Amino acid sequence: MPKPKSTKVLPDVATLTKAQAKREWTRLALEMEAHNERYYQKDAPTISDAAYDELRRRIEAVEARFPEFATTDSPTQTVGAAPARGFAKVQHVVPMLSLGNAFSDEEVQEFVDRVRRFLRLDADEMPAIVAEPKIDGLSLSLRYENGELVRAATRGDGFTGEDVTENVRTIKDVPHHLKGRNIPSACELRGEVYMLKKDFLALNKKQAEADDTVFANPRNSAAGSLRQKDVSITASRPLKFFAYAWGEMVERPADTQHGMLKWLADAGFVVNPLIELCKSVEDVLAFYRRIGDARASLDYDIDGVVYKIDRLDWQERLGFVSRSPRWAIAHKFAAEQATTVLEKIDIQVGRTGALTPVARLTPVTVGGVVVQNATLHNEDYIKGIGNDGLPIRDGVDIREGDTVVVQRAGDVIPQVVSVVLDKRPRTAKPYAFPHTCPACGSHAVRENDEVVRRCTGALICPAQAVERLKHFVSRLAFDIEGLGEKQIQQFYHEGLITTPVDIFTLQRRDAEAEQKLANREGYGEVSTRNLFAAIDARRRIELHRFIFALGIRHVGEGNAKLLARHYGSIDAFREAMLAAAVGLSDDGNTSEAYQDLNNIAGIGDIVADAVVEFFVESRNVTVLDALLREIEVLPAEKPRQTSPVSGKTVVFTGSLTKFTRDEAKAVAERLGAKVAGSVSKKTDYVVAGEDAGSKLAKARELGVAVLTEDEWLGLIEG
Ligand code: IVH
Repeated sequence: MPKPKSTKVLPDVATLTKAQAKREWTRLALEMEAHNERYYQKDAPTISDAAYDELRRRIEAVEARFPEFATTDSPTQTVGAAPARGFAKVQHVVPMLSLGNAFSDEEVQEFVDRVRRFLRLDADEMPAIVAEPKIDGLSLSLRYENGELVRAATRGDGFTGEDVTENVRTIKDVPHHLKGRNIPSACELRGEVYMLKKDFLALNKKQAEADDTVFANPRNSAAGSLRQKDVSITASRPLKFFAYAWGEMVERPADTQHGMLKWLADAGFVVNPLIELCKSVEDVLAFYRRIGDARASLDYDIDGVVYKIDRLDWQERLGFVSRSPRWAIAHKFAAEQATTVLEKIDIQVGRTGALTPVARLTPVTVGGVVVQNATLHNEDYIKGIGNDGLPIRDGVDIREGDTVVVQRAGDVIPQVVSVVLDKRPRTAKPYAFPHTCPACGSHAVRENDEVVRRCTGALICPAQAVERLKHFVSRLAFDIEGLGEKQIQQFYHEGLITTPVDIFTLQRRDAEAEQKLANREGYGEVSTRNLFAAIDARRRIELHRFIFALGIRHVGEGNAKLLARHYGSIDAFREAMLAAAVGLSDDGNTSEAYQDLNNIAGIGDIVADAVVEFFVESRNVTVLDALLREIEVLPAEKPRQTSPVSGKTVVFTGSLTKFTRDEAKAVAERLGAKVAGSVSKKTDYVVAGEDAGSKLAKARELGVAVLTEDEWLGLIEG
């Protein structure tokens, strides 16, 4: 078999123009949002971890070039998705964040260099590093008060998880009481719930025999087993736990990572026996290779190793940047590959009309998991062209009948990384991407230089209408009990619900109809009554859910919350957006309403434009108004003031003596302030160190408050 030519699927971000980068960012953000939901809420990922990491690295690269895209709703600023339904929510006192990734020795060296620069260590000073296997399970936070386990929570979106206390009490590796010395009065101890490979195989065999859920891999199986509403099911599953971290910790029992691991073991936890304390980059890389070689023979899945700076005072100084700590990094293993035949290309139509090609593969086992689908992203991707017009896969196109190399790292759907040209059937023809929508037959077009081909039949296309309706009733939107995807599909095809408003007029129409819902097959008096009651229960809805439900492009849950908080009420939002829509002209949008929208921290041009465009379309406003006659939208809560500087814009200038520039910036951002590089009328504070020059002068000229370092510290300490 010829070696795969290239595993690099997408072209260099450095070559993108700003407009291309914007589009690429949006595509990546939307794709990641969808994957997050599948991974965190449904335990049913459809791409491999490696493919997901690739998306994240790419969006990070785009944001590194164009930092203005890194809005608060960027997937780089959030972890995962909100918790799934069914368990009570738990607010983590200290957020459960994620880890940055390194894929090469160079990136590990860069990590260490970065740490040393940040801490201003001498050239020959090497921080000790703890190297740990990266367990492929799901993280858990355990709260102990006076040594007793009081609460266990999943990570959820990093800030709010699910209360799984009763389930966790059934895991033998999790102590109910802490042993040993130095037990803090309150602490959150963290680690990974996982399942042994052999236990996973045995469980799957049993599940298959009972015609029950079969899991894709040990990680999904651990997640599915933990999050059971019936605790006795969790108890019957062989879950295990490794402790490796902590959140809130009232009195910390050690000063180093390795000291803390020792303390965790003394307290009664299982700590991974392979963990090592390393003294040099060579040491950590040797650890990585040793663990990589041992990987297949380990009893549990790992997907890399984690390096952590040993000294906890240094960890604290290093702090976090957006979603991950500066003091740790995950060094991932290379993805696994296999060769198979691509039998057929199917086209799916999404809610926004995007035509997405999907590869149907001859099932193949990659790293112990059977894979049979791969996303092909878009028309150009199939042709061997990247989003910026440059070749990918050495410009080789993908055809039905091709033998392809697919890649995954730990999950379900792989990437197509290359085509084995020697095996291409003589009869294979270049794939003709459809120019009509497979769902409604409308023209499917590519606007300007968009990579996505879209169906133009927004109002008549059943794929879009159904998807829009599904979105409208989805969990983070109206979340109507008994009105899920299946029912929406059915009601749509029967013509009973074709727009969101129809949901709320269903009961009235049913009262007048000859053919009553209650008389239909699959329905009855009780289920009809329940459905109407569930719909009525949602006639009062929170503003952010309502905005999210509208299905405006680029307005996910995060942006919906930003908009809700900013405008406070549906009337204010509607009025402002109509004003902004009126201001739209050939010279761009200069209306005050648009500027106000665009000035919301976290809302950039792309989102602002999409929201305004939604209101420019009068059909949307008609539907919105019809909806507002049926329901009541509750005003949004005002944002909580989190720190004395949250929402303020700060500029640091001159040479600082109390902290490095990076530290000052990190602390300010952690407290919710925006750190700017230049002084303007919008600046709230200029913190001036020694020898401050033109920025200080500018601040004085504009009358901006100027603080010394000590005054700044006084301010942030409250
Ligand atoms: S430390 C602040 N150590 O990897 C980050 N995480 O990609 C603290 N994981 O959510 C995490 N083994 O679920 C850490 N030895 C280890 C780990 C580990 C597995 C998981 C964990 C985390 C994810 C981050």
